[in-house]
Amino acid sequence: MDVRTSRPHLPSFILMTLLVAMVCGMTIAGFAAPRNGKPLAATPPMGWNDWAHYQCDFTAQTILTNAKQLVKSGLAAHGYNTVTIDDCWMQKDRDAKGDLQVDPQRFPQGMKPVAQAIHAMGLKFGIYEDAGYETCGKFAGSGVPDGGGSDHFLQDARLFASWGVDYLKLDGCNVYVPAGGTQADAYRKAYAAESAALKKVGRPTVFSESAPAYFQGTPDWYDVLSWVRDYCQLWREGTDVATFDPAKPDRPRFHSVLWNYSYNLPLGRFQKPGNWNDADFIIGGDDGMSLAETRSQLALWSMMSAPLILSSDLEKLSSEAIAILSNKAVLAVDQDPLGKTATLVRRNQIMDVLFKKLSGGSYAITVLDRGPSPIQVELHPADFGFSANSGCRLEARDLWSGTNQSATSTLEANVASHDTAIWRIRPSSSCGTPTRTGTIVMIAVGSHHHEFIDHYTRCLTASGIVEDCAGTSAETWTMTPSGTLKSGGKCLAVADSKTAMQACSASKAQHWKYTLLGNLVSADGACLTASGPDDQSAPLSISACGHNQPDQIWSLPN
Ligand code: GAL
Repeated sequence: MDVRTSRPHLPSFILMTLLVAMVCGMTIAGFAAPRNGKPLAATPPMGWNDWAHYQCDFTAQTILTNAKQLVKSGLAAHGYNTVTIDDCWMQKDRDAKGDLQVDPQRFPQGMKPVAQAIHAMGLKFGIYEDAGYETCGKFAGSGVPDGGGSDHFLQDARLFASWGVDYLKLDGCNVYVPAGGTQADAYRKAYAAESAALKKVGRPTVFSESAPAYFQGTPDWYDVLSWVRDYCQLWREGTDVATFDPAKPDRPRFHSVLWNYSYNLPLGRFQKPGNWNDADFIIGGDDGMSLAETRSQLALWSMMSAPLILSSDLEKLSSEAIAILSNKAVLAVDQDPLGKTATLVRRNQIMDVLFKKLSGGSYAITVLDRGPSPIQVELHPADFGFSANSGCRLEARDLWSGTNQSATSTLEANVASHDTAIWRIRPSSSCGTPTRTGTIVMIAVGSHHHEFIDHYTRCLTASGIVEDCAGTSAETWTMTPSGTLKSGGKCLAVADSKTAMQACSASKAQHWKYTLLGNLVSADGACLTASGPDDQSAPLSISACGHNQPDQIWSLPN
């Protein structure tokens, strides 16, 4: 008898492997390659994470109970499909082989059965680690040990793949900075090393970085934001949303939601499909958040194409909160394939109006009431850069009530305190293609703190000053495809090394180039500079471009 091993003949084995790889849409290199033609996280990731509700007060049971609830509530079927275990799952020390050790009190059966149970529910499995030598909770990190030595990025990535990890959140506490090196370099090296490790291991893993969050409020923030997307699919760029505190369960948390929204909104230029700014967790529906505030958080995150990662006790969500978080039409705004960040069309002390381009000729509009009482506002197509001709009409669907208005030229919003109205609109053909219209804002120096939400951004006005946004027409700008900045029918120009509003012409003095770092650069290479982001009295100037100079960084209509 001819006894053979079951090992296939080598050439056919290679062919088979190639075939499987092709069918799975993977390249031989595997990681981050298009699957079914789509990159990883082609639309903003969605799911659940334990941190904002439980912090370190959880066990495997907590995770599995919430995973079941994600399915049972129908939220998973609406796209919230990844369950991520945040900090505190591991021990402080590694084992003799240098592997991470799971906390046996929290995970008596280890991590793999938890991952398997999550997969068996049809969900994806995510885990937290840290690019430093310790996590923020002081457990073993993957990065270079304090004082130098070998990192554990590859070893840990192998362990995660063996558990079936589909999503990795890599925080950035305690990153060791060698003598003579810069902090930004140390972070870049650490995140590049993790990215290389994930590639080498080859399991498609959505990678979430936190590097920019550690530079918020410093000039390096913009540099970090411009390289972070080379390594990952999403990144946290700022402070945490308020966590649930069992000692003060009624503590209001909407303030922190507004803060995260405020710092995320001006960063739209850094994101694109497959690379997302992460404004942090959705705490809507959890303690300290009303239904109006829950609507606001979902609508605002959707307007920014932000990841939607719930972080609440899902068993305690009311049916009303679940209905809000499952609103298909709002979720479609978030998951729109263009992945745009909304433009801040208008901002005053209590109200924000946003406008977002969607695929297929539609747009979304929101009105947020940040103030203590209801507001009423009328909006017209020209506010969003559509033609002002009277034939321009909008089909508008109110996404909370589901009611439609046809052929309207006025959108009327009656918005309750802390609530957000949201419409999906389709313009008639005479509205034309909208020009990029809205505010030009600058982040006020020293404002990277919660108390400053209302003053976080300041608006460029046609009178040549930067002031607290007041929602006036002097704060409305249009950026044309040829790079002119128009307000009140005039164009911003450089004249005698100063700025001036002139009749629009084809003059080079009216041309501005907008860079990824946020500079508005004149034809002769100088930068539009505020007199100081906090100083209202002095006029704008034109000066030599500095590197990440705060008074030269602008956010324009997207
Ligand atoms: C923070 C992070 C939170 C959570 C926490 C865990 O740095 O922003 O989302 O992960 O660490 O310690």
